[in-house]
Amino acid sequence: MTAADFVVVANRLPVDRVEGPDGEEVWRTSPGGLVAALEPMMRNVRGAWVGWAGQADVEIAPFEADGIELVPVALSAQEVAEYYEGFANDTIWPLYHDVIAPPQYHREWWEAYVTVNRRFAESAAAAVAEEGTVWVHDYQLQLVPQMLRELRPDVTIGYFHHIPFPAHGLYAQLPWRDQVLRGLLGADVIGFQRAQDATYFLTAVRRRLRYEVKGPNVSVPEGEGTRMALARAFPISIDTTPYLELAAREDVRARAAEIRASLGNPKRILLGVDRLDYTKGIRHRIKAYGELLADGRLNVEDVTLVQVASPSRERVDAYVHLRDEIELAVSRINGDTDTMGHSAIRYLHQGYPREEMVALYLAADVMLVTALRDGMNLVAKEYVATRVDDRGVLVLSEFTGAADELRQAVRVNPHDIEGLKDAIMTAVEMPPAEQGRRMRSLRRRVLDNDVNAWSSSFLAALSEVRGR
Ligand code: G6P
Repeated sequence: MTAADFVVVANRLPVDRVEGPDGEEVWRTSPGGLVAALEPMMRNVRGAWVGWAGQADVEIAPFEADGIELVPVALSAQEVAEYYEGFANDTIWPLYHDVIAPPQYHREWWEAYVTVNRRFAESAAAAVAEEGTVWVHDYQLQLVPQMLRELRPDVTIGYFHHIPFPAHGLYAQLPWRDQVLRGLLGADVIGFQRAQDATYFLTAVRRRLRYEVKGPNVSVPEGEGTRMALARAFPISIDTTPYLELAAREDVRARAAEIRASLGNPKRILLGVDRLDYTKGIRHRIKAYGELLADGRLNVEDVTLVQVASPSRERVDAYVHLRDEIELAVSRINGDTDTMGHSAIRYLHQGYPREEMVALYLAADVMLVTALRDGMNLVAKEYVATRVDDRGVLVLSEFTGAADELRQAVRVNPHDIEGLKDAIMTAVEMPPAEQGRRMRSLRRRVLDNDVNAWSSSFLAALSEVRGR
């Protein structure tokens, strides 16, 4: 393996190793928006990607896929349970999403997190060329920047945080709060989705570590002197090209018409697309919709809600309970309101390829993004990019990063069920001219600030800080 000038470090590789139907090993695109966001940029550099292949107890040698050198990091079954399902997804994830679910604090999970972060840092240190650049991603790897800096002081280190960073009053719960801040401050640039996230982080640094903070700059003690780290917002986006291309394709448009017909050609199709996660506000959305049907403000003959809920983190308790709750709510509403020809909710606990998603976006009159807390929410941007006809309405939670940018969406507080019901009705009844006016403005924003703009601005900031 030749040393790479540019190395991405993320919990997951861009592809996941899974068991095929006959027990054989197959590779498929990893879940989440991270891969889709970084892939276009990675194709343009001589780079390597360090990450986990998604299965426990498998050692895989580095290999090349689509011009990217992939460097698998092995995790034991116990590490998957304690580092990934435990500390990352049952401690940090709920804490950083404003404690929507109670975070669990366990010392053995923290120890596994430290051990695994060190393994990622060592793997990145071995992969990167002299004076190269390493870009570390997300909450699973917050200690990597500092660990890597100790191993390789010659390297430029960026970190991007894809999920929210919580207010200090919540962050302060974390028993290892100071260690995590020091871990992140190993990076030259620490990027966040929203200005608010960066502010919360800087407040925590000032209050906990007492480092000097001036605007977005932190003086980090190093040796005898100090080093500058920059913390600010770089809102992530999508690669718009495949969405525009698919939306223009005849077969995809025909598939959208076929989806409408197979749902009984309702007057309005509402759509929700989420990983099955308690942060996404799926329960609130279904509750509001169910009440609109029960109140007679919506009629099951006229509307259908398609809810795609892709399976996620299925061995973490909070996700097991959430699935039960949602599936109970869906079947109650359908049982109470369905007719032989029309279903209130078409619920799909499955993931779909991008082509099918674009057909669904084209078929949907209203897109419901009602997350209780979400770093960005790229589904909102995918829907907007796909609507080449300037039609369709986006209902968007204020608690998403996307709400900072997509000002022409119908904004909602998903905790306010009455407000959510009114927002759904506003969207369902919005006249075409108003839809067009709003959608044009949303599209301009998404097309002008695509994922290439995001990665370029982050990397430009990184070289500027390093050059100071
Ligand atoms: C979010 C996180 C990603 C994560 C993805 C899927 O988007 O920010 O880091 O990869 O969810 O979750 P999973 O646990 O399956 O990797």
